Parts: sequence; C-alpha cells; structure tokens
Amino acid sequence: MLERDLMQPFGIEIDLETGRMLRPERTSVRRASDMRGYYADEPALERLIRDADDPVHYQVSEKPVPETPGNLMYCISTLQPGLVGQEFFMTKGHYHQVKETAELYLCLRGQGFMLMKTETGECKAEAMARGRLVYVPPSWAHRSVNTGDEPLVSFCVYPAEAGHNYGDIEKEGFPKRVLRMNGRPQLVAAAAQR
Ligand code: F6R
Ligand code: ZN
Repeated sequence: MLERDLMQPFGIEIDLETGRMLRPERTSVRRASDMRGYYADEPALERLIRDADDPVHYQVSEKPVPETPGNLMYCISTLQPGLVGQEFFMTKGHYHQVKETAELYLCLRGQGFMLMKTETGECKAEAMARGRLVYVPPSWAHRSVNTGDEPLVSFCVYPAEAGHNYGDIEKEGFPKRVLRMNGRPQLVAAAAQR
C-alpha cells in the first residue's frame, strides 16, 4: 500500500466528567417511540410518548472509521434515566452481525446493568458504574439498562466490521427484565417476550 493511501491518525476529545464526546461526526438518536415492542408495559410507553412529547431515550455519538477488519469503531452511548411502568429504561440491544466480535464498555457515568444473552438463552448481567469495564464476549447479545437517576454513559469499542443485528432481539427479547420493585432494581424472568 502506498503511504498516501494510509488512513491518517487523529484524536478526539471526550469530557470524562460528563461523558460527552466533543464534536462527534455522527449522533444517532432513539426516542421513546422507537422503543415500541420492547417494554412489557406497552400502555405506559404510549403514555410516555404522549405526555412527555416523545422524549429522547438514548443516543450514540461517534466519529466513524471505515468498517473494515483491523479498524476499531468506538462511540459514546448515553441512556437517559426513567421507567416505562416498572421497567427501567434500556437500549434495544443487538447481536453483532459478525458473531466473532467482542465489545468493551467502559462506564463513565451513572448506574445500571449490561444484560447479555446467547442464542441458546443463557443470560448474564454485569453491573455498570463509573469506572467499571464490562467485556461483552463474541456471540453475546447486549443491552444496557439504566437503574440510576442520571444518564448512563459508556465508552464502547468494538471491531469496526462487527455490524449490528437488531432483528433477532426484536423477535426473541431477553430472558430477563430489570424492574423497579420495592424501590430497588430486580432482575425478573421475562414472561412473554419481547
Ligand atoms: C455498539 C454497541 C453500542 C450500542 C449503543 C446503543 O456495538 O453495542 O454502542 O449501539 O449502546 O444500543 P443499541 O445499538 O442496542 O440500540
Ligand atoms: Zn454492540
């Protein structure tokens, strides 16, 4: 490869206190209305959409790199606090399309869980709190859940070719839900999915 064809090094800034990426190139936003079908209490989600004017649920900020093997994609994921009925706000969750790809989540702010599941239904939860790094191994679907009262912010890094498969989680959901019971987060077996 000619030297002039090489990708050029670059740097970005992340405010480690707030967890904000400064001048991201791309920010994807998921609103409450994008979460239809994910929560157990569907009327509660509809009330949230109507009464709070379809609030932002979470967003992902990145400065993308080419999605080719060898590159590392990275982003800041910011999940707002709140409840849909008894269920804590969560991300949609996905498998990576390239199953052999892992992901690192370094929590910068907030409290919650990383819920992970395999195709055969094994389910694990790792606590997330400032300074905790969660390793999502290859083949595990992952979803973050915010159980605190401030945004749950993570810095994520994964192989750039990973791709995202949302369809399977849309269909099968996770075996566990994180609910507020007696004022505390509890992991509860999901009755009917999604
Ligand atoms: C990337 C990754 C995170 C999530 C983000 C939003 O592979 O795992 O950056 O994309 O937390 O969650 P989803 O993608 O499930 O809507
Ligand atoms: Zn991922």
